[in-house]
Amino acid sequence: MYTSFIKLLPLVVCVNAQLLDIADVDELVSSAMLPFEQYVYTTPAESAIPVATVLAAPEKVQAAVVEAAAADTAYWLADIAHQGTAAFNSNPSGYNVFRNVKDYGAKGDGVTDDTAAINAAISAGGRFGPASRHTSTTTPAIVYFPSGTYIISTSIIDFYFTQLVGNANAIPVLKATAGFVGLGLIDGDQYQSDGNQGWISTNVFFRQIRNLKLDLTAIPAGTAATGIHWPTGQASSIQNVQIAMSAASGTQHQGIFIENGSGGWMSDVTITGGLYGANVGNQQFTMRNLVISNAVTAISQIWNWGWTYQNLVITNCQTAISINNGGVGNQLVGSVNILDSTIRDCPTFVTTAWQSSTYSTGSMILENIALSNVPVAVKGASGTVLAGSTGSSTIAAWGQGHKYTPNGPTNFQGSFTPPTRPSALLASGSTRYYTKSKPQYAASPVASFVSVRSAGARGDGSTDDTTAIQSALTSAAAANKILFFDQGTYKVTRTLYVPPGSRIVGEAYSVIMATGGTWSSITRPVPVIQIGQPGQSGSIEWSDMIVSTAGSTPGAVLIEWNLAATVGSGMWDVHTRIGGFQGSQQQVAHCPTTAAVSAACQVAYMSMHVTTSASNVYLENVWLWTADHDLESPTDARISVYSGRGLLVEGKNVWLYGTGSEHHSLYQYQFSGASSIMAGFVQTETPYYQPNPNAANGPYPTNSTLKDPDYSSCLGGNCNSLGLRVLNSKNVIIYGAGLYSFFNNYSTTCSTFPVPENCQSMIFSVEGSTSGLVVYGLNTVGTTYMIVKDGVALAKVSDNLATYAATIAYFTF
Ligand SMILES: *[C@@H]1O[C@H](CO)[C@@H](O)[C@H](O)[C@H]1NC(C)=O
Ligand SMILES: *[C@@H]1O[C@H](CO)[C@@H](O)[C@H](O)[C@H]1NC(C)=O
Ligand SMILES: *[C@@H]1O[C@H](CO)[C@@H](O)[C@H](O)[C@H]1NC(C)=O
Repeated sequence: MYTSFIKLLPLVVCVNAQLLDIADVDELVSSAMLPFEQYVYTTPAESAIPVATVLAAPEKVQAAVVEAAAADTAYWLADIAHQGTAAFNSNPSGYNVFRNVKDYGAKGDGVTDDTAAINAAISAGGRFGPASRHTSTTTPAIVYFPSGTYIISTSIIDFYFTQLVGNANAIPVLKATAGFVGLGLIDGDQYQSDGNQGWISTNVFFRQIRNLKLDLTAIPAGTAATGIHWPTGQASSIQNVQIAMSAASGTQHQGIFIENGSGGWMSDVTITGGLYGANVGNQQFTMRNLVISNAVTAISQIWNWGWTYQNLVITNCQTAISINNGGVGNQLVGSVNILDSTIRDCPTFVTTAWQSSTYSTGSMILENIALSNVPVAVKGASGTVLAGSTGSSTIAAWGQGHKYTPNGPTNFQGSFTPPTRPSALLASGSTRYYTKSKPQYAASPVASFVSVRSAGARGDGSTDDTTAIQSALTSAAAANKILFFDQGTYKVTRTLYVPPGSRIVGEAYSVIMATGGTWSSITRPVPVIQIGQPGQSGSIEWSDMIVSTAGSTPGAVLIEWNLAATVGSGMWDVHTRIGGFQGSQQQVAHCPTTAAVSAACQVAYMSMHVTTSASNVYLENVWLWTADHDLESPTDARISVYSGRGLLVEGKNVWLYGTGSEHHSLYQYQFSGASSIMAGFVQTETPYYQPNPNAANGPYPTNSTLKDPDYSSCLGGNCNSLGLRVLNSKNVIIYGAGLYSFFNNYSTTCSTFPVPENCQSMIFSVEGSTSGLVVYGLNTVGTTYMIVKDGVALAKVSDNLATYAATIAYFTF
């Protein structure tokens, strides 16, 4: 089939982003010129198929075909001068950050086996692969694929801190040979000879896959085969990827396979064929714009604590989503939230094993789902629990699990009235939430960019780059240029002001590293990056960067957003990374867990502050991380570095898609006087050292101006950092939260399932005049009281045991 198909290529080549007319495709298929299972979608450069297109004409999407890689065309990321350096590499001048696979011998000609060349492009330069079991920030890399068809016979082995990026204007194809061997065309954490993954999956951070098409169709349908093996942690993303598999009867292909980890973000992924489009288990994940067709089961949820799916488009599958793994009484899925999705031509939407019980596994919320020709919407262990129809219908809101409204628990399974979505958060003219994928500037020529290094910044980790960067920021915005941060670590000693109109993009997560006396006072917070000044309005786009500190910086507010922004402004794959990396002087040698608390290891006042003047703030895949371990340590040695606060939101109209906040001492998220927030999935971890010292006695004094929690009473247990505090806020809707407390003074005994769950007494606090709060899929670990309202416990863990995490499907106040 593969051979004959190749011969047909000239007939079915379509221009990128152009969908073939279904009539053309039907003709090809009926004339047996085009095997049905080789239908795949083509996508425009900036995102997958626009949802509007999908909704207008799903049958066209399903029939869209792309196969031949187009001729390579210009893409700024390839064409710009490659001046990135790894500041803390042992040999910065000899280390290549940007690697074009063709420079390592890959041909991309659809004939040559390019496996070894691609793997050489990834591994060159003393980088850290899975066999090393070593993580490091000192070897960042972009491995770039010009357009072409790259034949591979064994897995592309992903290394630590790697971005695998294809030409966004002419998406390259990785095509597996018929005899392909390996767990994944791309293996994100290769199993080693001892039977274990290379890295601990929960520690695999800072990596991306973008703009690639994976073609498995030459592999016989009956041979087990995987597109991407992706056990991953936070600060990882897959974007704009297509996977084509066999849809023949008995197919054993799977598009994405994730067995575990603590993720993660995935968007604009189009999958066709396979036994499973996605076969996935992980603590938590956010997935958006997954377009899956012609699979037996589009999404097989192996296990989870919590998961958020948004804008799914699933067509022509037997089952759209199965969450019944483990079966009645042993369901391995904790909670799933699905919103703003379209399911078409599938006999069953969801299969579940939920039953009314003191346990709350299998919790699920469906909100704003369009069904078309889906006879069974939800199928339980003993039959249909929610009928669909052979016509079209909409599920406004439906759920199952334990609910607290605000008291409970009540077991429920059925429809309920959905919250009124704040209109400012909706896509224009739509009932769906506004979303925007990470800009890749595919249509912008190199001339639209300014390199910060060409503008005089060194990024060597030691030169003070403040003045050079500030001048580049100011002039780039004035000239309407996109400011490119070549890979580097840019040391700054004063606040960088980001003016309205700025567009900023990093290379393999370039780092802004704040250090020095500006940030020396624990009672005088000063921003490192200031997005607009209070009272200013305008737009900003910022992606693929990290903000950090070095040495003692107790007064550093890493990101302060003041801008009253235009819709479409945002941050994508921008993270704070506080401590635990080469060059930070906040590593195991400086801040071991055995050291007494000292100023040397007080390293941030706050990760991010969305101030009262801010509005239309869009964060996507943003991980605010105070390091719990040293990323350079071969043993992942733990460290005790102290930061004050995670994300404080005081503004309005805020989207938090796939965000996390970890190990800050006073709280991870606080919404205070805020309004209209949509958040999902939200993930937190308490500092491992607490309660030694606890949130009240930690190094950061509370600040009444910032309405810090006072922790004067903690219901009798450990007064540790709150994961989420909602104070005097209105219209906050949370689509999935995982608030975890695993440790008590570095011991995990307190979180061992199912008892004692007492690392801390409370982790989610609702206070003051808060109204219009809805939380779906609330998961906690190691916490006695899951919900506390004004000091009164509303929900306790023992009533909501589920997976390793305890789960509440639906809470409203
Ligand atoms: C992930 O799964 C693999 C395979 O079962 C197992 O060896 C590993 O310990 C798991 N890792 C985590 C962090 O759970
Ligand atoms: C409290 O926050 C305000 C506003 O950011 C700041 O001016 C003040 O210095 C802070 N005080 C302390 C004790 O941190
Ligand atoms: C915390 O654990 C360490 C190491 O086990 C121990 O020496 C110390 O006494 C503990 N501190 C408290 C307050 O329990």
